[in-house]
Amino acid sequence: MEKLAMLYEGKAKKIYDTDDKNYFWVEYKDDATAFNGIKKGTIADKGIINNKMSAMMFTYLAQNGVNTHFVELINDRVQIVRRLEMIPLEIVVRNIVAGSLSKRVGKEEGFVLASPVFELYYKDDNLGDPMVNETHAIALGWATMDQINAMKDIALKVNELMMAIVAKAGIDLVDYKLEFGVCNGKVMLGDEISPDTCRFWDKDTQEKLDKDRFRRDLGKVEEAYVEVYSRIKEAIANA
Ligand code: TMP
Repeated sequence: MEKLAMLYEGKAKKIYDTDDKNYFWVEYKDDATAFNGIKKGTIADKGIINNKMSAMMFTYLAQNGVNTHFVELINDRVQIVRRLEMIPLEIVVRNIVAGSLSKRVGKEEGFVLASPVFELYYKDDNLGDPMVNETHAIALGWATMDQINAMKDIALKVNELMMAIVAKAGIDLVDYKLEFGVCNGKVMLGDEISPDTCRFWDKDTQEKLDKDRFRRDLGKVEEAYVEVYSRIKEAIANA
């Protein structure tokens, strides 16, 4: 497949057209941002780890019946994905209280939720990705009720599969963000799954092994990304 013109440069990835209109060429960058772009930096080789980790997670999910956009890895930083019509929502799934939920409800980080929490955010950098609910999404035409139900069903399945595999890697899946799109009328999982978009805590020490190390200046950012990737890779190989 051939890389053509760049369509879009996001905070962590560049998206290019290809010679086949059904597919995009996605290049993962080392750039890191937080707090809606206010904090900026780079994490050495993050693009390589996130590209490989995302490919691995999407392959694992696909093998377990989840429809995703992932097609194939091209090289360390590049993957081919199916072209989706993106739904402009971020779906955050939470199993343990952390981050913005901790602030919003005044509960300490680490509190284990009795059941998974699903949140919707409207994807708009200028607005700082505000939290919305299902009726906003439907009434504003961002998604249909059927699409929201499909996203919830997929997210629940993703949650069970991800929790199971990271547990084998000695990791707690605290929370994460998913994005979805539509291809031939079907809702599919898109974007990425990586330490940029998930909170991973070591099961024994509760040490943070994700982008919170960058957001909160905790150091050893690259090391955490590599460790999470290697531990989950081994867990999948042994599953
Ligand atoms: P939050 O606690 O800041 O709302 O984040 C919840 C989860 O979503 C966390 O795993 C990080 C992820 N996330 C993103 O991937 N992109 C974002 O823009 C934000 C705000 C969070």
